[in-house]
Amino acid sequence: MLRTGASSLGRSLRLSPSPLQAARCYSNGGATGESSPGPSSSSSRSGGNSSSSSNNDPETHFGFQSVPEALKESMVGGVFSSVSSSYDVMNDAMSLGIHRLWKNHFVSTVLDPRGGINCLDVAGGTGDIALRILDHARTAHADRETRVSMLDINADMLREGMVRCKRESMYWGTDQLGFQLGNAERLGERMVVPPPTSKKAIYRQLPELKSEPVPDSSVDLYTIAFGIRNCTHIDQVLKEAYRVLKPGGVFGCLEFGKVGNPYFAELYRQYSFRILPSLGHLLASDSASYQYLVESIERFPSQPDFAQMIREAGFCTPGVGQGSQIIEEAGLGQEYWAKAGGKDWEDLSGGIASIWVGVKL
Ligand SMILES: C[S@@+](CC[C@H](N)C(=O)[O-])C[C@H]1O[C@@H](n2cnc3c(N)ncnc32)[C@H](O)[C@@H]1O
Repeated sequence: MLRTGASSLGRSLRLSPSPLQAARCYSNGGATGESSPGPSSSSSRSGGNSSSSSNNDPETHFGFQSVPEALKESMVGGVFSSVSSSYDVMNDAMSLGIHRLWKNHFVSTVLDPRGGINCLDVAGGTGDIALRILDHARTAHADRETRVSMLDINADMLREGMVRCKRESMYWGTDQLGFQLGNAERLGERMVVPPPTSKKAIYRQLPELKSEPVPDSSVDLYTIAFGIRNCTHIDQVLKEAYRVLKPGGVFGCLEFGKVGNPYFAELYRQYSFRILPSLGHLLASDSASYQYLVESIERFPSQPDFAQMIREAGFCTPGVGQGSQIIEEAGLGQEYWAKAGGKDWEDLSGGIASIWVGVKL
């Protein structure tokens, strides 16, 4: 259990296809064929997320392809606009529903949010984490004060999230739940809100999307689930997370990891590269976006490399130095972290997904 109640923290921490086509044009090699599994996950990955080409035009990766940095954001946007309406169904189909267990564990067991805290769910998508935070605070702690602002760079995903929250949740229209268009790499900047790309009638009943800067030291709990690997500059996302968190605030990340067991890793790779894009084609008529999602998982840093990046951003992590002591003193980890043994991350399903936390001291 990682308690994130404001009081306990305060007390204890004194101290569309076109983008994909564009990507193909900029490809400089790599295993991009849909029928060929990608490179081994044991191949080295740098902790950073971008590189520079010789003509000083910075490049980064988009799946296995090299693309100009300036293009990546809109290409990722194209992927998520394309999958937004099928996102929830595909998540269940691709993971056989297991993503729900991971998310439940992440929110309820690891983070245990409560105490009228201010949460920012970055790359919030259609609201899986935001709704779990509010449900957990309410059902486990009778807390109807905790608030979550869902932030995403993609207005289509956010609007799908709004539709879902309007239909399925009791928080719609309350000040417990907010929606923000924003970029995880630049939380201090406003974005221009685009009109909906879909003509769905229900979109006309939604309130205007907002885009407001997130102030320094304003957030108790920052969550990001399956979002950070899509960002161009992971280090910048972490820096921004650190900036917006209050002293004592908690950073929690759920993301795909690297599978440790080599036999299971191979099985998983075959599944990812051979089956998932076909499933995307079958269920969402979109194999290319799902091919990108699989490739982006392979490109994400390994668990220890990402833990190191979290520390480099200034966070205290449980596995290093006085990290576990601080988390215990902060009242963050008595049950959960005692079992977790002061590790910097927790692997789920053999490392298919992992959870990292950091505390801003
Ligand atoms: C795989 S979805 C995850 C959604 C949700 N967190 C979940 O777990 O179901 C990834 C989300 O990250 C968003 N995203 C990608 N790059 C982003 C960025 N730079 N800033 C904010 N959100 C971003 C996408 O628009 C998409 O909604």
